[in-house]
Amino acid sequence: MERYRVAQVGCGNRGKVHLDGWLAHPERFELVAVCDLDEAKMRQAIEARRITPALYTDADRMLAETRPDVFCFSTPPAIRLALVELAARHGVKGLAFEKPMATSLAEARAILALCRAHGIKAVVSHQHKYLTSFQKLAETVRGGDIGRVERIEATCQAWLAQLGTHFVDYVLWANGGCRARWVVGHVHGRELLADSHPSPNYTMGQIGFENGVRAFVEFGKLSASHMGKDRFWLDNRLTVYGTHGTVWCDTDGRWGRFTRRTDGDAVSGEGEPWRVQQSVRLQPLFARDFADWLDDERRPHPCRLDLSYHGYEIMEGLCLSALNHVRVDLPLPENSTPEDLFDRLRRELPDCHELS
Ligand SMILES: NC(=O)c1ccc[n+]([C@@H]2O[C@H](COP(=O)([O-])OP(=O)(O)OC[C@H]3O[C@@H](n4cnc5c(N)ncnc54)[C@H](O)[C@@H]3O)[C@@H](O)[C@H]2O)c1
Repeated sequence: MERYRVAQVGCGNRGKVHLDGWLAHPERFELVAVCDLDEAKMRQAIEARRITPALYTDADRMLAETRPDVFCFSTPPAIRLALVELAARHGVKGLAFEKPMATSLAEARAILALCRAHGIKAVVSHQHKYLTSFQKLAETVRGGDIGRVERIEATCQAWLAQLGTHFVDYVLWANGGCRARWVVGHVHGRELLADSHPSPNYTMGQIGFENGVRAFVEFGKLSASHMGKDRFWLDNRLTVYGTHGTVWCDTDGRWGRFTRRTDGDAVSGEGEPWRVQQSVRLQPLFARDFADWLDDERRPHPCRLDLSYHGYEIMEGLCLSALNHVRVDLPLPENSTPEDLFDRLRRELPDCHELS
């Protein structure tokens, strides 16, 4: 069991949660340095945690001077590839970064290729699968309580690059990592193409998997809602339908199931809310599994990059299907997107004015 030296860029909202993840395992990780362009924010984050890593405002310099095993970055979506290039140049073993994994298919491919070429084990923060509610769903599905899985449904009020990326990943996870063969999609609304997480306002689609399972996904404000408007960011649900029952879970700790073991009754439960679980459960478990994977090739991380890349292809496929009015087969061929998808979406999507 090795102890890994970590350097992190980004001490914003999510960056602080990443810090808590590393710090939860002092026997596995040593946080040697942090970096943020906003020095006041960085100092506040480390003082609140009573830690004294080296401080930087330049990621390249931090990596050159501290030579960490693990590089973590938690920056806005526009900053991905340049930091992965730094990770490759400075020879890190492990890379942890935030969703969405990229803002274009070309960038997603470049990130995957760089990590493969440099033997970097990379993970993307699709960490809701560590929620107690999601674990309840996994236990129910894997235990066979709902019979053979036939259909999976994912809905989020937030848009594709915000929470859609999470829930596409959770559909893959609920389906045991099986690959998708095709997607059919609809998108509309152009206002959120200008967001820091660029997306159509609304995305809906079907995903067909190699094992015959189908998934239905919808992301954006028009999606089915399961909570009050005040819980917009938590209003996400994953549901799995099997031959003998149904199980669902949400981001705020709730779950429910109706299975062959529940004697005709629906059973439901409520775990701790998201705000409690994210720092004390999700990120520590995410970090623990990362150390285990770094130690041992045979213990792959549930949020590893190749799964995120497949999810990214699915998201791109949903948009391409909508723009081209065709079914899109996966994997996407190398020349499938000669043009940046977002340029096309900006040019081709009409105004829709449904955000309020
Ligand atoms: N996985 C999740 O559950 C989850 C939840 C919220 C946000 N996120 C993701 O986390 C990412 C960051 O979101 P956030 O809310 O923490 O943003 P934030 O604005 O609070 O923090 C980003 C930080 O990165 C710093 N930064 C930006 N560029 C930098 C650079 N080149 N060098 C050094 N520092 C730099 C900024 O100064 C800022 O402090 C986004 O991609 C977002 O989608 C994920």
